[in-house]
Amino acid sequence: MSSSGRENFGSAFTFIMAMAGSAIGLGNIWRFPYMVGENGGAAFIVAYLLCSMLIALPCFVCEALIGRRAGSGAYEAFKKLAPGSGWKVMGVVAVIAAFIVVSFYCVVGGWSLNFLLRSLSGRLAAGDPEAATGVFSAMASGTAEPIVMYLLFFGATSLVVMGGVKKGIERFTKITTPLLFVLMLVMLVYSVSLPGAGEGVKYLVRPDFSKLDAHGWASALGQAFFSMSLGIGTVLIYSSFMRKSDRLLRGGFWTAVSDSAFALIAAFAIMPAVFAAGLEPSAGPALVYETLPYIFAKMGVEAPILSGIVTVVFFLAILMAALTSSISLLEVCVEHLVEQFGWNRKVSTAAFAVPVLLLGIPCVLSFGPMSGVKLFGMTVFDMCDYLSSNVLMTLGSLAFTIFVGWRMSKVDVRDEFTNGGTLSFSGRVFGVFRFVVRWIIPPAILVIFIANLIGA
Ligand code: PFF
Repeated sequence: MSSSGRENFGSAFTFIMAMAGSAIGLGNIWRFPYMVGENGGAAFIVAYLLCSMLIALPCFVCEALIGRRAGSGAYEAFKKLAPGSGWKVMGVVAVIAAFIVVSFYCVVGGWSLNFLLRSLSGRLAAGDPEAATGVFSAMASGTAEPIVMYLLFFGATSLVVMGGVKKGIERFTKITTPLLFVLMLVMLVYSVSLPGAGEGVKYLVRPDFSKLDAHGWASALGQAFFSMSLGIGTVLIYSSFMRKSDRLLRGGFWTAVSDSAFALIAAFAIMPAVFAAGLEPSAGPALVYETLPYIFAKMGVEAPILSGIVTVVFFLAILMAALTSSISLLEVCVEHLVEQFGWNRKVSTAAFAVPVLLLGIPCVLSFGPMSGVKLFGMTVFDMCDYLSSNVLMTLGSLAFTIFVGWRMSKVDVRDEFTNGGTLSFSGRVFGVFRFVVRWIIPPAILVIFIANLIGA
């Protein structure tokens, strides 16, 4: 995809694959299980699924609709669709949010790279499951090692965005993403069979709604937005390359379903092992990276060669999934500079590297030398994580939805659903969509957001 020639995705399937590439990533495998663990288990899963299907999915359709109608990034889109208004500010907010996310996302991407390299040299699943859970903290609390990994991961993301080798990456992830899916299913089965895993399964299937407060709901909503890459212009920009003949709802539906399925499988692969290993489910961002070495080391005791292969392929697949997501994030930032200032992609990418590193390095060090630097009880990393999904993505999605529901004309919105009148689209379904987007979603997001803010 380039900003100059606006060639389209060749098919609806390609659009869905590109969207799934952005959506499926560390948010599913790393963030979702730790959010579940921080918010009491099964009740959070129910809240997340409700938020995904009832709120995030319509928000996806709204964001995609704006992108396809305008055929540009967020800033230009608002200039085009609401000329002379203040809406274009949302385009800038989107870029800032994408910048914050990419800055901390690359930390976790760097961890994945580190674990891949360790597993290649046999330093991860070293046959001692109990010791394996400590590998992560020893690595992440360092300075040089996690910084180098961060630089390598961010460097790879930048090179892809600069050099337009995205097609190659996409071809590769068409293999690695299904592979990741299969491997996670294998791990799920293995994890559930571990002694002591039963408690973990119970934790995931027996909801205790008394544990779910406003903060839990806000986190479930934020997770749904984070996981579906919503509210910061990624869906908007990808949709600007969607063909006019493709159906918006279908793209949203398949992205939501595949994304949620990945998250659920990850939770069921990780949480039983957390209990089996005697780890704390509420361990936060470290949870998954403490648990994975345990799973692989445990496998390694019985079947060392199989465990070695599974570990390497697993981390390679995670790395690719993380890369397709970080590329989509940086793409939003770079595209903005290309569109606004006419700089080429290389210069625009390089221009972003400086602020990303300035924010990213403190995020890396949040697990080591800077772990004591806190604001509102959060490290720099936690702050970026929280601020982006629970605040910026949530408010971004709210704004996109209000734009489609209240600012765009009904005729224009309908035109996108019927693809200029060429597709038959049930008037009743459209009526329900419009009603929901105007009257249900904005108040629902606001209630959750404000309740969380005032600590209800
Ligand atoms: N959805 C990605 C994940 O789950 O890992 C993260 C992400 C990518 C968030 C792109 C936002 C975004 F715009």
